[in-house]
Amino acid sequence: MIPIISVTNKEQELGHLVIILSNFSKLPPGVFNAAEKTYLKAQIETLKQEVVSFNRMTHWVYVCFIKEEKDYSRRLESCRKAGDKIAGLLNAQKADRAAIFDAEGEEAVVLALAEGMALGSYQFLKYKSDQESKNTLKEIEIYSHVLEEEENGQALLSRQSAVGSRQLAVTRHVSRVTELNILLNAVSLCRDLINEPNSHLTATVFSKEAEKMAQESGAIVEVLNKQKLSALKMGGLLGVNQGSFEPPAFTVMEWKPVGAVNAKPLVFVGKGVVYDTGGMNLKPGDSMLNMKDDMSGAAAVAAAVYCIAKAKLPVHVVGLMPATDNRPGEKALVSGDIITMHNGMTVEVLNTDAEGRLILADALSYAKKYDPALVIDLATLTGAAVRAIGKFGAIAMQSKAAKELETLKTSGLEVYERLVEFPMWDEYGEQIKSDLADLKNLGPAEAGMITAGKFLEKFTDYPYIHLDIAGPAFLEKRDSYRGQGGTGFGVRLLVDFVRRYGEGKQNV
Ligand code: BES
Ligand code: MN
Ligand code: ZN
Repeated sequence: MIPIISVTNKEQELGHLVIILSNFSKLPPGVFNAAEKTYLKAQIETLKQEVVSFNRMTHWVYVCFIKEEKDYSRRLESCRKAGDKIAGLLNAQKADRAAIFDAEGEEAVVLALAEGMALGSYQFLKYKSDQESKNTLKEIEIYSHVLEEEENGQALLSRQSAVGSRQLAVTRHVSRVTELNILLNAVSLCRDLINEPNSHLTATVFSKEAEKMAQESGAIVEVLNKQKLSALKMGGLLGVNQGSFEPPAFTVMEWKPVGAVNAKPLVFVGKGVVYDTGGMNLKPGDSMLNMKDDMSGAAAVAAAVYCIAKAKLPVHVVGLMPATDNRPGEKALVSGDIITMHNGMTVEVLNTDAEGRLILADALSYAKKYDPALVIDLATLTGAAVRAIGKFGAIAMQSKAAKELETLKTSGLEVYERLVEFPMWDEYGEQIKSDLADLKNLGPAEAGMITAGKFLEKFTDYPYIHLDIAGPAFLEKRDSYRGQGGTGFGVRLLVDFVRRYGEGKQNV
């Protein structure tokens, strides 16, 4: 569980306090004496500290200095990172609650700080007997600037004067905060799914978890089992599953609110390879490590639809999550095999480790039945993507969706899940033509992330965006609020995009 964010106007009950500051002139008067102010200035200006702590005996006061920055995206990210730092300090001293004092009245900044605190407190300790290291922070209260105006900061010091009920300001915050809690909980669920090892998360278990998330959020869910997939002739998903002793599962989640702003749905497709050994083209050495993360795309899609439904966003969305493991086995695909896909096209499987595109191709072809306004897929698809841009963003490619991708890039900056666009040039498509079948699943050594995207494009006829999230989906080492292990990359991105879509802000 990650901490819950709430709004308060009861300054008498505040515990530990976090004050956000980007300008000394805005330091709330009365909180610090002259000597403390001198100390604070020195710590921040000379020693370049971002967080300065004051021990008030009954509680701590943390001043968090976020320097003013023109680049709004980076400013919000600084807040999230500072939030992670403060959550670390609070958890280290076993605090269970803290309040953020909004000294400057900038809502987005406060929410970003709270977001960093909450996500930074995420842990996956399910299989540890020793719960000593378990984080204690459970509640993050936002104490609004608007509420505080009259008191001019004095209330914080004395903790005696009543603020009075400025209910309006509180309710204004509440809906955004409620939405943020739903979103962060969705990110946490997404991380849980990714961190769960294959021993405990098969394709069937994944579909059961998605069913629970659908039920809780009000989304409709359907799981296509092996028999149904055979009837649908999903040769890609069934082919990859051939080497496994576990059946495949294709989960469909749908949120179709009354009065949705879109006549045609947005469809999200997520790669759900619950473990990627490489199949008969077995992954060598350490390269198989962390391949439980190969369902990060499907986890992000499940969590995003869960969040959109739970927050009741007025947008019709569908999530498609084809899932299987990829293993060598008696019946496993071997190099040179030819399979027939859901759309009838034939594929020569030259490398069984290029399995993601096979299961996604069937899902992309299946997506046509929804007559989608736009399809976005998320997949830990290629090592080439990781080598190209590392873990700091995802690779995006589009066809017939240039404007939509611009909006998605804007969302990427807002939530700091940044996208780098790669081309869909036809020449790359030539490189995956097969002599024996319609396509082959392997291109040349160069630009592997692009030939993979080109492969997927062949199964689409609608506005389409492909996201290769192999880099940012999973972190071996902790990186601030993104944590260690599954990051939940894509959830905040998709939800922000859908929110823009709902508000009619999309460039379409
Ligand atoms: N799941 C992997 C891609 C991957 C690599 C994800 C590293 C996360 C970290 C994918 O199925 C794969 O094995 N891709 C191959 C494709 C190749 C055989 C064309 C790759 O990138 O090596
Ligand atoms: Mn693979
Ligand atoms: Zn894979």
